[in-house]
Amino acid sequence: MKNPWIDIPLEIYESHMSLSDVAQLQALNDIMRKQVMAYPVAESVAVLGVAGGNGLEHCLERFKLVYGIDINLAYLAMCTKRFRWAIGKSLRLIEADLSKPESVIPQADLIIANLLIEYVGIETFCKKVAVAQAQYVSCVIQGTDCEQSFVSESPYQSAFHGIGKLHQDVDEMKLTDEMVLYHYIPVYRGSYDMPNSKSLVRLDYSLDGRR
Ligand SMILES: C[S@@+](CC[C@H](N)C(=O)[O-])C[C@H]1O[C@@H](n2cnc3c(N)ncnc32)[C@H](O)[C@@H]1O
Repeated sequence: MKNPWIDIPLEIYESHMSLSDVAQLQALNDIMRKQVMAYPVAESVAVLGVAGGNGLEHCLERFKLVYGIDINLAYLAMCTKRFRWAIGKSLRLIEADLSKPESVIPQADLIIANLLIEYVGIETFCKKVAVAQAQYVSCVIQGTDCEQSFVSESPYQSAFHGIGKLHQDVDEMKLTDEMVLYHYIPVYRGSYDMPNSKSLVRLDYSLDGRR
């Protein structure tokens, strides 16, 4: 089955995410700015589910080496357009389906995965992170204490019907329990309230708890 993310135009995704009562694009940009500053010893980062590169400017300012990974080649093409100056230097873009056993996360000191685990599943995500052995993992999941559908109401909502089959709420405790199995110790938790009563939860882990 073709992954439904491949059929969602970036323009629709970004328009939906930046609407005033969704406001997730701006919030995720701001969270990424904080994620990249959190671990001063890290020299490289892999951004999983990079989409059109929201927040990538913070990574490129901070790291010598930045990987952007996504299943949607058109999203990566937009990253190339937006960050052309960094291509072939600090920015490497990789098309990969991270739900597939054969896909590999490149070696990096920090892994950032914002609103991706919902689409690849906790077990697959943690297994891949453990193989990559990044020192730090910082991810954002959608808070699950809200009764609203995971796709916020908007004029673009119908474009997201396909991903409903893939999307699974991420249970924070289950994610942490699975990460701990691979020796990733929780080191930070932050919750961000969104205007439409949803929330984003940032969860950071460090291998063996090292800072
Ligand atoms: C909800 S968006 C989050 C985008 C971005 N992280 C942000 O903060 O705006 C999910 C992203 O993950 C990508 N994605 C979904 N499933 C994937 C998979 N199996 N492998 C790689 N990327 C995937 C989508 O194409 C999309 O760009």
